[in-house]
Amino acid sequence: MRLFLDTASMEEIREINRWGVLSGVTTNPTLVAREHQDAERVWKEILAEVDGDVSLETTVLEAGAMYEQGADLAQMGPNAVIKVPMTPDGLKAGKRLVEDGIRINVTLVFSPAQAILAAEIGAYIVSPFLGRIDDVASDGMFVLRQICEIYDVQGYGTQVLAASLRHPMHVVEAALAGAHIATMPYEVFTKLVKHPLTDIGLNQFMKDWEALQKELKEGA
Ligand code: G3P
Repeated sequence: MRLFLDTASMEEIREINRWGVLSGVTTNPTLVAREHQDAERVWKEILAEVDGDVSLETTVLEAGAMYEQGADLAQMGPNAVIKVPMTPDGLKAGKRLVEDGIRINVTLVFSPAQAILAAEIGAYIVSPFLGRIDDVASDGMFVLRQICEIYDVQGYGTQVLAASLRHPMHVVEAALAGAHIATMPYEVFTKLVKHPLTDIGLNQFMKDWEALQKELKEGA
């Protein structure tokens, strides 16, 4: 499963990129707005920093205008993937972008039925929002498992990107479900690496090592 960062913050992207585990970035209008900068500048900087896929989201709702914007955004870099929303207009624009050879990510997906539509237009990625499904007292992981099973049974080539992940167990369970990609905020990425037993173990190793150095120095 490829690990993506769900952010538009260059500081966060550079840090996780240095870990050697970053395969891509997803952005959305909210995340870009948090940077308080020109969107084009933000997108270009991310595209240059990351070797893998970077999702850039369209910000107009009508199919024709969405197609035009998506085609323009795709010119920003070979690693650009264009996000279109799961709406009739998003499907229309997405289908045209796919026909032009542009890779699209169908976003704001909350049901297996929507995921089938995304696969049928030939989307490169479908993004079910797990955490937001949980937020309305439903089961995001169950929806993800259903999508993965349907795609497997049907032989769809669209990659399943588990989005709106809120904690490490979302990531683990998405991997078990067979998601191709998991995108998560910086806070979740940093929690993946943490384990109290790692900290306790390392602390003990360092103490024992220092004690040995002291012992050798005193005996010399
Ligand atoms: O970027 C798409 C998705 O991951 C958003 O997540 O945390 O805003 O529900 P969230």
